[in-house]
Amino acid sequence: MSRRLPDDLLKVPHRRDVSFARLTTLGVGGLCHWLFEPTTEGEAQSFVRACSREGLPWRVLGGGSNLVVLGDLETPVLRLALPKVVYREGNRFTAPASHGHIALAEAAAAAGLSGLEFASGIPGTLGGAIRMNAGAYGREWIDVLVRFRFLTPEGDLVEKAPEPGEFSYRWSFLTTGRVILAATADLVPGDPARIQAQVAEYREKRGTSQPLSKRNAGCIFKNPPGQSAGRLIDQAGLKGLRIGDAEVSPEHANFLVNRGKATASEFAELMERVRLKVLEIHGVALVPEVEIWHESFQSSVFSLQ
Ligand code: EPU
Repeated sequence: MSRRLPDDLLKVPHRRDVSFARLTTLGVGGLCHWLFEPTTEGEAQSFVRACSREGLPWRVLGGGSNLVVLGDLETPVLRLALPKVVYREGNRFTAPASHGHIALAEAAAAAGLSGLEFASGIPGTLGGAIRMNAGAYGREWIDVLVRFRFLTPEGDLVEKAPEPGEFSYRWSFLTTGRVILAATADLVPGDPARIQAQVAEYREKRGTSQPLSKRNAGCIFKNPPGQSAGRLIDQAGLKGLRIGDAEVSPEHANFLVNRGKATASEFAELMERVRLKVLEIHGVALVPEVEIWHESFQSSVFSLQ
């Protein structure tokens, strides 16, 4: 049943009943009953302020490249639609959180600035990448991040430099109730040809080790300290395991792929099967990197009914 939302919230641009299959890279999920898409930071602030005042829970969505949504969602979802402008000041690049992550890495490379090569194959938005402190090939966002702007859970605007304890491996303090609006990377001038060559090398590596031709959500589990989730899943003999059209990729065991008509619950069930098998065989409790959303909870630790 639809709840009545306050008028100031309804002034923020929004759409009704958008399928999560269109909002996530895995291409699964129910309906997003309320999708708010502010085109300015002010509208985003109005959204958070109104929700905070009303005590309304809400969620923030980026490029949907790290997400499985079980069922329909009545909870308002915020997806920034800020103008895709990149500002350059010296060697610093600032972009809105809704900017495409790969496009930003490409813009830096084209400008002859080094430091974001690692990001050139990581899909989603800049905001999602900062929020998760995304990384690859031994580099992560916190290595280049010098300033960021975000909304607090109450809707207050804060701009600051990162501080110790705010970012760690595939985690940041922004994961709880905060909305990242913009970020600045401090880059280093380099030889454009060398930067492009590095980007090409990373792409080639990803292309040969990861199932990029099928719908996927990147790595499903975080790497346990000093170990590789992919190797543990592989050694547990789980490559190719399927539930419906959801499959543990035969190419890289820490990727689940959609073979065509998979459902969100098939993915959630497959994740749980993989988690339990790795626990049984290796005694290691894998922690999801992918988020599971459900009307009544948002968690990276999930249970199935
Ligand atoms: N491995 C296997 N079997 C597999 C997959 C991997 O034995 O099915 C082995 C590989 O042979 C290698 C080791 O596991 O010796 C590590 O594999 P890989 O180099 O593919 O790296 P990863 O640890 O699985 C991490 C990130 C990726 C990132 C790559 C490249 C995590 C959870 N994953 O993968 O990030 O692209 O390094 O830097 O940190 C993501 O976060 O979504 C993601 C894909």
